[in-house]
This record gives sequence, structure tokens and C-alpha cells, in this order.
Amino acid sequence: MIIAIDGPAAAGKGTLARRIAAALGLPYLDTGMLYRAVGRLVLEAGGDPADPVAATAAAKALRAADFARGDLRDAAASKAASQVASIPEVRAALLAFQRQFGNENGAVLDGRDIGTIIFPEADVKLFVTASLEARAGRRHAELCAKGDEVSLEAVREDLAARDEADARRAAAPLVAAADAILFDTTEMDADAAFARALALIEARV
Ligand code: C5P
Repeated sequence: MIIAIDGPAAAGKGTLARRIAAALGLPYLDTGMLYRAVGRLVLEAGGDPADPVAATAAAKALRAADFARGDLRDAAASKAASQVASIPEVRAALLAFQRQFGNENGAVLDGRDIGTIIFPEADVKLFVTASLEARAGRRHAELCAKGDEVSLEAVREDLAARDEADARRAAAPLVAAADAILFDTTEMDADAAFARALALIEARV
């Protein structure tokens, strides 16, 4: 079984996907981590994440240890991720890994193009959204809890800029698949979102 969970930044996809995977006994893949790790590799090598040659080389060299690292959520890695993600060769280099991961034992995958490009035949597709205000508030609280002193305004601007870039890019833009269930979590806490999403999924499979 493949469950595709897509949507804009900080909509709660990760928390939701992890809990759904645990409930259904499926492996979970946070595909944003792949792009973050590629962006971080380029930055560490002193390169420019917007440079297709450097970014593609990093994507091809990516190893599991690179995206298992815990320090990929900061603003620099987020921006670099969004930059490398707009390069078609980078996306192509990461596609086989994602399909292989899902095809081994089934999986819950979250990202931007899981239901449209990676697994267009997924059993269930959720497109998770929430207002920019709600998403910024949640991400800000998450960063503050980690001791990252960033303003709400800066978080809101970062999310808006990434959403805009992700939605406008030519390569695999952020868009809901025609057969995705639209799932707005603005008024839901994590527990309510999980319960509703699980019920929706169980009704479909
Ligand atoms: O999901 P997350 O915010 O960690 O993703 C970081 C960036 O990686 C996104 O802004 C997007 O540009 C890119 N991404 C993508 N396709 C995916 C997952 C993430 O383009 N499937």
C-alpha cells in the first residue's frame, strides 16, 4: 500500500504521515529530507544550491547517512532545499530511490509531488493544507522549542517564499493531484488531524 501525502511547507504533513505510518505498520519516508540533504551537501562543499551542475552531482552522491542527519531543518537548509528542488536533474536523481523505498514494503511518503509524479497510482492521496498564519505559527513554535531564536515574521516570510517557488517552478510544481483528498488542518490540532486522516484512509482501502 502506498499513501501519498503532499502539501505546502509546515502544513503538518510530517507529523501526520509519521503517525499514519505507525498506525498502519508501514515504513515512512520524509522526502523533503532528501532535498534538504542535497542542499546541505552543496553548501558544505562551498557551492551554490542554484547551480545545476553542483546540485546534480550532490544528488547523485547522496547517501542514507546524509539525510538521516538531524540538522537539516534550519533556514539555510530549507532555502537550499527549495533551490535544488527546482532543478529537473536533481529530481530525476532522487526519483528511483523514492520509488524503490515505496515498492519494497509499501510506504507512507510525504512531499510535494508524491501523488503527481513519484506514485501517481498511490492507493490514497492526501493534499494537506493550512492557512499561512497557522503554518507559520506552528513552525515558529517548533523552532523556538529547539532554541532557534527566529521571529514569527521571518518564519512566515520563509514559508511564503518557498511555497511560491515550489508552486511556480516548471519541474514537478506543488499541486494537488486530481484524485487527491484535500485536507485542511487550519482548525485542527495534531490529534484531530490524525484521527480524521486515518478515518479517510481506512474508508478508501
Ligand atoms: O517538506 P520540506 O519542507 O522538508 O521540503 C523542503 C523543500 O524540498 C521544499 O520547499 C521543496 O522545495 C522541496 N521538496 C520537493 N519535493 C518533495 C519534497 C520536498 O520539491 N517531494
